[in-house]
Amino acid sequence: MNNRVYAPSFQLSYFPLLVILTLLAMLIILSRLGDESEITNRSEPQSNRPLYSREKNISEFDLNKYSVITHKGNVSLQELNENVFKPFGYEITVPTLPVPTLRMLKEPKCEEVFSEWLKISNMPQPDVPPEQLPVDYADEFLLNGYSALSPWYFNDHSKTGDHPRNWDKISELMKLDKTGVAEIAYRSESEGMYNAMKHYRLDGMTGFVVGSMQPWVEVMALQNGAEKILTVEYNQLNIQEEFRDRLSSILPVDFVRNWKQYAGTFDFAATFSSIEHSGLGRYGDPIDPIGDLREMLKIKCMLKKGGLLFLGVPYGTDAIHYNAHRYYGSVRLAMMFYGFEWLGTYSGESEEPFNLNTDKLHSRGLFQLIHWTTVLRKL
Ligand SMILES: *[C@@H]1O[C@H](CO)[C@@H](O)[C@H](O)[C@H]1NC(C)=O
Ligand SMILES: *[C@@H]1O[C@H](CO)[C@@H](O)[C@H](O)[C@H]1NC(C)=O
Repeated sequence: MNNRVYAPSFQLSYFPLLVILTLLAMLIILSRLGDESEITNRSEPQSNRPLYSREKNISEFDLNKYSVITHKGNVSLQELNENVFKPFGYEITVPTLPVPTLRMLKEPKCEEVFSEWLKISNMPQPDVPPEQLPVDYADEFLLNGYSALSPWYFNDHSKTGDHPRNWDKISELMKLDKTGVAEIAYRSESEGMYNAMKHYRLDGMTGFVVGSMQPWVEVMALQNGAEKILTVEYNQLNIQEEFRDRLSSILPVDFVRNWKQYAGTFDFAATFSSIEHSGLGRYGDPIDPIGDLREMLKIKCMLKKGGLLFLGVPYGTDAIHYNAHRYYGSVRLAMMFYGFEWLGTYSGESEEPFNLNTDKLHSRGLFQLIHWTTVLRKL
């Protein structure tokens, strides 16, 4: 009884306070909604708007509310953060879509990156690349089950595989337009590299190219203003005389042994259809589940702060065609892009970057090969 009597007067005397508290709560909710819609807009960028530019305290986001597509279907960022990113040594900082922004829990120093790589490359390797994904490493290769797997086997051991070509014909290649240069490798897919370099010109810059059987990436870089290029390649290259002041090559092992001489010195790096193979053994390289992520850390060490990386890899839903190559989707791309700012993604179809959203990323279905070129800036 007493309570009932008291109730109205309680409400009346506290009414102004209640109004203020309600307004405050609404303000807080509105401001958080505003933040989230800003992130959503950022994730579906208008052409070349940067995806990741703001660091924010992760406790301000509810990762259950954001999701990406994997071969398992629609997965929340909360689930990926716990089941993949944290076990692999990363953590989501901003729920950008379709590629979340990560930080590394404990980033290795360049010293460790290179000494680990040397250690792994010195381990004895089989003469014939393994035909099956090594069982002991399955979870590491397959992102704890969030990457699909299908067999597609190659034996391209350096003794039997492809050989370098056209290094003595660079002056002829220099006269071709982008379609002509692209003709020698991957055709329209490699035109994405040219479009990216045209957008982010390389005038007067010094860079390096990772993995290069034919000099088409080098030629595109020269055509877009690059001054000097070092090619990091397992094969010896017979570079045309007139270009030896601008082009040179080095074996990966020598690049790593002398890393101190190169670290932090390059304005740009470029690589196309190379990193997605790292660690799968196809080319007689050491089996290494994170071979590609290791390459990214190496490249990051060699670039100046603010240096550009032109990265051409297969895009799609996260998957491995073993031992042919990896496909990069939301999960692996997030790890690959760690330490870099995403600037734009290019195909051969347009000179302008395209909108890399969820639909576009997964438009081709599982195991459908297409290389796009993404421009990243080292943070
Ligand atoms: C993030 O927020 C939590 C809780 O509000 C706070 O304890 C932490 O210090 C913040 N971290 C940063 C980096 O601001
Ligand atoms: C995943 O499912 C949720 C809930 O149905 C939906 O809101 C979200 O848009 C889906 N995410 C993707 C990337 O399709």
